[in-house]
Amino acid sequence: MSASNNKGFSHEKVETSNFLMIVLILLVVAVGGLVEIVPLFFQKSTTEAVQGVKPYAPLQLMGRDVYLREGCYNCHSQMIRPFRAETMRYGHYSVAGEFVYDHPFQWGSKRTGPDLHRVGGKYSDEWHRIHLNNPRDVVPESNMPAYSWLATSAVDHTVVAQRMSALRNVGVPYTDEEIAGAEEQVKGKTEMEAVIAYLQGLGTALK
Ligand code: HEC
Repeated sequence: MSASNNKGFSHEKVETSNFLMIVLILLVVAVGGLVEIVPLFFQKSTTEAVQGVKPYAPLQLMGRDVYLREGCYNCHSQMIRPFRAETMRYGHYSVAGEFVYDHPFQWGSKRTGPDLHRVGGKYSDEWHRIHLNNPRDVVPESNMPAYSWLATSAVDHTVVAQRMSALRNVGVPYTDEEIAGAEEQVKGKTEMEAVIAYLQGLGTALK
């Protein structure tokens, strides 16, 4: 029986009307999208911190700022996908609850260099210092740029309290005491020390 003989609803009407087709496609995509996305805002596994995940310490936070400023994310992702090849190379795949204190997250997708989500604890601080100063000193074939100036550039200790209050506004549970004591903790530190503190904390909660 052809569609035109059908006395009830005819799919032919939809297929021959651009307007109806567009409206119905939008409706289907909207409903499908909402059903997939909305529950993520209420699920424990995507909104609550994985056990052991702590807000960044003041020095790590300043290191994270350096990471953003220097554009490390242009070459490094922080998102281990749940595939065998990835987990064998990098360790446990990344889960949403590890990123609840990341504003904004640094997942990325560009991998000129390796993923860094579980680099914390993989090398010593000294290795990172040598590597950041000149990557070729430890990995001869590396094409990562050198960041030697970080060793002589001081962390701007005056902004750390503001950073922490701003993060508290979006849900990171810093206490008043932590914010008040932050400046003292980062005073006199170099940006190199800050980046290394940040790197050494990455992905360690789920190791
Ligand atoms: C132009 C691309 C590029 C940029 C920008 C870059 N890297 Fe890299 N990075 C690489 C490559 C390639 C490697 C692998 C070779 C090596 O270890 O040097 C690497 C390796 C690393 C490693 C070692 C990872 C491991 O598991 O062995 C760390 C840590 C690292 N980078 C940190 C950083 C930081 C921090 C920044 C920003 C200050 C940065 N990278 C910027 C390309 C880049």
